[in-house]
Amino acid sequence: MFLQKRINKVNLFNFIPSTTQKYLRVYRWNPYLNKKPWFNIYPIALQNCGPMILDALIQIKETQDSTLTFRRSCREGICGSCSMNIDGVNGLACLQPLITRGKFTTVYPLPHMHIIKDLIPDLTNFYSQYHSIKPWLSNSAKQKSEHLQSKSDRLELDGLYECILCACCSASCPSYWWNHDKYLGPAILLQAYRWIVDSRDNSTKERLDFLNHKMRLFRCHTIMNCSKVCPKSLNPGKAISLIKYKILKY
Ligand code: SF4
Ligand code: SF4
Ligand code: FES
Repeated sequence: MFLQKRINKVNLFNFIPSTTQKYLRVYRWNPYLNKKPWFNIYPIALQNCGPMILDALIQIKETQDSTLTFRRSCREGICGSCSMNIDGVNGLACLQPLITRGKFTTVYPLPHMHIIKDLIPDLTNFYSQYHSIKPWLSNSAKQKSEHLQSKSDRLELDGLYECILCACCSASCPSYWWNHDKYLGPAILLQAYRWIVDSRDNSTKERLDFLNHKMRLFRCHTIMNCSKVCPKSLNPGKAISLIKYKILKY
């Protein structure tokens, strides 16, 4: 902590250039401290650190500041829990390299979310919106055997089922920023489309009726920030357009 206090007082540009050291400038906020959010600047010795931003955060927590709080689990882009804003772009900290960046990297939590602490956004609203689209197979047919699919029907799910619900896309969408209590946002709409096109599901009409709403769906203005940031290279903006098209055709 003593080292950290000293570092925070030093002007960023006074640091001696070094190829073995970088600095992470990290957003901090603690609801139990009666103070505004602040930044801490942490030196990262590259020879002791893995190659990704998440490795640097883990190194900070283990060796410099155990109060730094962030989510992570899989460390390989599968669980979606380490989503944050890195140098102004939403992404997964475990997939964002540290070493190819400049000397200073700034890390914020996902933007326009309520923050629980430091880099941890409150995803309660996000998950209740996910629940609202009924993300499970809805098939009223009384069937005791498996619900089989043709190969071509199964291919319809490619580009959709891979979504890890990291919320990077929704937290980069201006419409979601301003209306996240009413607009479902790109992540949830991509998930909705995943069930609409599932050949085993026979609740398509109910699903489209639910989405055919000026706030839930039609707040999307096709700006496509969502598709630019998706760490799994998915295209939620396209999925939203296809939902709109299906509503028109139904
Ligand atoms: S395309 Fe739609 S969902 Fe994606 S960022 Fe733009 S407004 Fe948001
Ligand atoms: S569509 Fe991409 S960015 Fe959006 S929640 Fe899914 S994986 Fe994350
Ligand atoms: S830790 Fe699981 S996606 Fe980054």
